[in-house]
Amino acid sequence: MAANREFQYRRIHSLLGVIPIGIFLTQHLVVNHFATKGEESFNQAAHFMESLPFRYALEIFIIFLPIVFHAIYGLYIAFTAKTNVNNYGFFRNWMFILQRVSGVITLIFITWHVWETRIQAALGKEVDFQMMERILSNPAMLAFYIVGVVFTIFHFANGLWSFGVSWGLTVTPRSQRISTYVTLAIFLALTFVGVRTLFAFA
Ligand code: HEM
Repeated sequence: MAANREFQYRRIHSLLGVIPIGIFLTQHLVVNHFATKGEESFNQAAHFMESLPFRYALEIFIIFLPIVFHAIYGLYIAFTAKTNVNNYGFFRNWMFILQRVSGVITLIFITWHVWETRIQAALGKEVDFQMMERILSNPAMLAFYIVGVVFTIFHFANGLWSFGVSWGLTVTPRSQRISTYVTLAIFLALTFVGVRTLFAFA
């Protein structure tokens, strides 16, 4: 009974990592990339996102609650999971550990980032190009954002690999090898988009 419930929680946790959180992350990185086209383009894109209908419902049900569940259950997994040294090779064992480490770094980064942007917006501040420019003009903050963005993307891309295994999409060693290359390409592409955006503000 308890094992069954645990299995269901794991399934929900796994699914939420991709739908909706992974989709939101990808969309967020792509929209922010408008910063590379200049201040006006970014502000226009940001204001369009803010003006979406049902904004609060979308934020709560598509972003906030899924991340809270995934993060809390993720912390539980990260601190209780046994390493699977015998089941996979050297590389996958490292990825297994890095998935947990990157989850914790992602949590720290997201908490700070949401406080600095979304919560400040709720308190009446204008979240626009200039705000991000002010934040990222501090070299320590820029370094923190680069580390946070890269680890978050790593967590998502490497998570996609284990998602394929969890849901029986990649069962054979060959399909898992292909999946390694596909998720590596996703990691590199999104990292390019994310880091390029940060430098557009800095
Ligand atoms: C942008 C935010 C996040 C995204 C896009 C994301 C995405 C994912 C994905 C796709 C998976 C793979 C699911 C699977 O193996 O079936 C995953 C796994 C995991 N996530 Fe996240 N995640 C995010 C935030 C977090 C946070 C804040 C934590 C907190 C520590 C966390 C902890 C974990 C853990 C421990 C796993 C491994 C689960 C397992 O091996 O069974 N994640 N995540």
